[in-house]
Amino acid sequence: MALRQILHDGDPTLRKKSRPVTKFDDRLQMLIDDMLDTMYASDGVGLAAPQVGVLRRLFVIDLQDEKGPYVMINPRFIKQEGTQIYSEGCLSVPGLFGDVERPERLTIEAQDRNGETYTLDAEELLAVCICHEYDHLDGILFKDKVKGELHSQ
Ligand code: CO
Repeated sequence: MALRQILHDGDPTLRKKSRPVTKFDDRLQMLIDDMLDTMYASDGVGLAAPQVGVLRRLFVIDLQDEKGPYVMINPRFIKQEGTQIYSEGCLSVPGLFGDVERPERLTIEAQDRNGETYTLDAEELLAVCICHEYDHLDGILFKDKVKGELHSQ
């Protein structure tokens, strides 16, 4: 396991669309472990592969509750309901925060690190995080969707 460098806003890799994960091999397991380590070391609650320069459709989330960490590979939204507004930040946009509107509840289908497909119902902060990380896979940053102004703290 190792820490990976997190790309910052302005790096063109963050704006590219990621491709599906096709090989669930040792290299993928190492990437996932490195992403988890990097996320924890940075006090983040989520990290997407393009943030560490890998243009593949996967992300990790850990809200530091009893349920995580989540590993979501090739995710696909099944359902989205309602709206909520949450002040988001991002390890790739350090020090800046802003209000973003997201669904209040969602259902997502994804593969786990072994390639097994599962579905997950999420609401509140977990739903926010899933949408935020999913956007990274399509080259979208939260700051693109901020209502009002970006602010520090
Ligand atoms: Co982010």
